[in-house]
Amino acid sequence: MLLDVSPAQDTSTNDAEAGHVPSQTFPRLIGEGRSDPAWGAELFENPFSIEDLLVFDDAAMQHMLSTECLRPTLEDLAWSLHGASKALVESIRDNLPLQERTQFETELSRPISRDQVEAARRRVLDGLFWELTYWKTPELYEELTEGEQVHPGIFQRLEPDLRGKTVLDAGAGSGRASFECVRHGAGLVYAVEPSPGLLRILERKLASLLTGPPGSRIVPYQGRFDHIPLEDNCVDVSLSCSAFTAEPGQGGEVGLAELKRVTRPGGKIVVIWPRREDYDWLVGHGFQYVVLITLGLLSVEWQNEKFVFCLSERKKTNVFRSDTGTKKLG
Ligand SMILES: C[S@@+](CC[C@H](N)C(=O)[O-])C[C@H]1O[C@@H](n2cnc3c(N)ncnc32)[C@H](O)[C@@H]1O
Repeated sequence: MLLDVSPAQDTSTNDAEAGHVPSQTFPRLIGEGRSDPAWGAELFENPFSIEDLLVFDDAAMQHMLSTECLRPTLEDLAWSLHGASKALVESIRDNLPLQERTQFETELSRPISRDQVEAARRRVLDGLFWELTYWKTPELYEELTEGEQVHPGIFQRLEPDLRGKTVLDAGAGSGRASFECVRHGAGLVYAVEPSPGLLRILERKLASLLTGPPGSRIVPYQGRFDHIPLEDNCVDVSLSCSAFTAEPGQGGEVGLAELKRVTRPGGKIVVIWPRREDYDWLVGHGFQYVVLITLGLLSVEWQNEKFVFCLSERKKTNVFRSDTGTKKLG
């Protein structure tokens, strides 16, 4: 059963059966609401080490260090680098804003205990867990999303907007939504994604397909919400699945302006699986809230048994979408 209700009518919403939680929030969500704080930690032991930060290129490092919701405190950052390689320390120092470097150096040379270093490293690595997953272990991310069902109603519902059209999939990852767009008739999909590892997986998938659709209809590009490498007004639909948030650096005002810039007048912008805390922001920016409900079990089935998370039987999936009209939302 597919229902379309407005937030005001959506009185049954609660955290347990909230709309799909973007993948970025799984560790927090699973840990929350449990009386045993070790439960989430046990499930999501962070596999990364501080030297893994070397995986980021300068642009990605600068982006993280200037993005409020991602960046660690300067103290944690510097303390986590006590005993780290020269290459890593230099990479981080050189990508910090100039005005922060002196304080960084001070914290870097402050005598602290081994425990303080370890605690700072844990906080830094936990905060960057998903970025590290996308960049350092894209194959693991691919494994996670392979088992994570996208509500079938989303793309069925979008089909009239996609058929024969040019689409941007922003924050495309390894192309989960891009392939759905092509399956539902899109003529051309630009898949824009910052992680080189995820782009490589997408390219491998495209290369393994015979020539012809969908392989020839998906064009991968490296890019971010704040700098989409496309011309003005060149797509009919811009969408983002489990990636765009209201946070500066993960979309926000600048990212939305970019989505509007590349979407032609009269086109649509669609945010699939928005974060609950962004609902008001999205509505305030002219998005219309669409909830799809289905009866039956939608589940996330990951091969890695540490990542098993069954969603409630009555599953809702949220989609926000917005008509761009004459380059104006609403
Ligand atoms: C949860 S994944 C979703 C990927 C894909 N859309 C899907 O549904 O499988 C979030 C994606 O957003 C990308 N991302 C993170 N920050 C971004 C930014 N500032 N601009 C564009 N994409 C970003 C990540 O690299 C990652 O691929």
